[in-house]
Amino acid sequence: MRIDVLTLFPEMFQGPFDNSILKRAVTQKLVVFNIYNIRDYTHDKHHTADDYAYGGGAGMVMKPEPVFEAVETIKEKAEGMSGKVPLVALMTPQGRVFDQTAAVELAKIEWLMLICGHYEGVDERIRQHLVNKEISIGDYVLTGGELAAMVVSDAVVRLIPGVLGSGESLLYESHTGGLLEYPQYTRPEEFRGWQVPEVLMSGNHAEIAKWRRNQSLSRTRERRPDLFEKIELSSKDKKALKDIDS
Ligand code: 6GU
Repeated sequence: MRIDVLTLFPEMFQGPFDNSILKRAVTQKLVVFNIYNIRDYTHDKHHTADDYAYGGGAGMVMKPEPVFEAVETIKEKAEGMSGKVPLVALMTPQGRVFDQTAAVELAKIEWLMLICGHYEGVDERIRQHLVNKEISIGDYVLTGGELAAMVVSDAVVRLIPGVLGSGESLLYESHTGGLLEYPQYTRPEEFRGWQVPEVLMSGNHAEIAKWRRNQSLSRTRERRPDLFEKIELSSKDKKALKDIDS
């Protein structure tokens, strides 16, 4: 997978891709990150990437020419990508809200281009004629799309086959099954008087699986009624929840 990030603040990307799992993914050549400075695609003396809004109002708007030129130049110069086209996504609070389902979809794409919006917004012609998709990471406003691009990259790259150590860690995690994760414990068995639940030390794998399922169910019901609503409960699940309630 190839992920190109177009930004006015490339320095912000030093760090997130140089640590832990993302770094290993890069080293193993499972993903290639390219960070491009949109300002490098300006031609005036001051490298102007933004301008006042037509019609007035506070705040600056990202100009179309540098962003179009950046995308077009990067596409033209892309080596080893012949015949391939990137999915061009604009990071903006006006986009569709990113979730695990969206991450799974993006992880199937070979070439992603993430454009980081900044200032009060981007010229509408970028939305209309350059990008295929608009992505938000939640209902709050960030100073720019950079942190959002990092969030999306992280969530997507960890889904690329081979990036995570064991396939296990993908199967049972929060949200893939629409349920929150069950509680996890590690050694010591007793910490400051707090015991690890006995069932986890029983060696009875069927009982452990049942306990975890029920923990996930009751936790999701309590914390995320919106997710819980969408879950198809088995008759066993319903019975277990009833028992928890009684
Ligand atoms: Cl992608 N950009 C900005 N500026 N704010 C956001 C966002 C993106 N997603 C949520 N808030």
